[in-house]
Amino acid sequence: MENNNRWLNSRAEGGKVYDSRFEELQKSGVDVHGEASFVMEYRPNTVLDAGCGTGRVAIELARRGCRVVGLDIDPLMLNRAKEKAPELDWRSGDLAVAQLNRQFELIVMAGNVMIFVAPGTEGEVVLNMSRHLLPGGKLVAGFQLGRGLSLQEYNRACAEAGLKLLEHYAAWDRKEYLPGGNYVVAVHQKD
Ligand SMILES: C[S@@+](CC[C@H](N)C(=O)[O-])C[C@H]1O[C@@H](n2cnc3c(N)ncnc32)[C@H](O)[C@@H]1O
Repeated sequence: MENNNRWLNSRAEGGKVYDSRFEELQKSGVDVHGEASFVMEYRPNTVLDAGCGTGRVAIELARRGCRVVGLDIDPLMLNRAKEKAPELDWRSGDLAVAQLNRQFELIVMAGNVMIFVAPGTEGEVVLNMSRHLLPGGKLVAGFQLGRGLSLQEYNRACAEAGLKLLEHYAAWDRKEYLPGGNYVVAVHQKD
């Protein structure tokens, strides 16, 4: 599956270049922690940052008091995360099959993770993430629509994995989602 991964096949940059975009945004006064603020509204103690990349979201969540684990398939991105926060728990693996042997109160997939997984593995990824959720736990995903995964397809994968749609928004600031929108932040819950 790793060879078909859309992120590994398309990214040209390492973690430092990836981070520099957010550093520039932050310097210009943009709030680059919308994902962490969104997640913190559910007050989770334990969070899996699934597709954590350079740890952008996980590090901020840890700073705000969560116990986080970051999981990613890309060694370049993970190396950067480890460099920035060696004290945190970083794991290497494919979201479709990784087994961390523990469950979390919340799993966040920020930054388009769902549209970068290997085509055809979206259902496996959602199912595997649901196995890593505690009962009542939440799966939070933000991704662009119209790039290989529709909201209907994602909702169906969640339903098949036993996750119910709680709410969805057009952005991390909880702007209302309107049909036909080009981005969604979806929150599903395990029974
Ligand atoms: C655009 S980056 C987002 C990184 C981070 N979540 C953020 O918001 O900054 C997408 C990340 O998803 C990871 N990813 C894609 N498919 C994956 C998979 N099947 N298993 C683990 N990580 C995956 C990539 O390696 C990459 O680091």
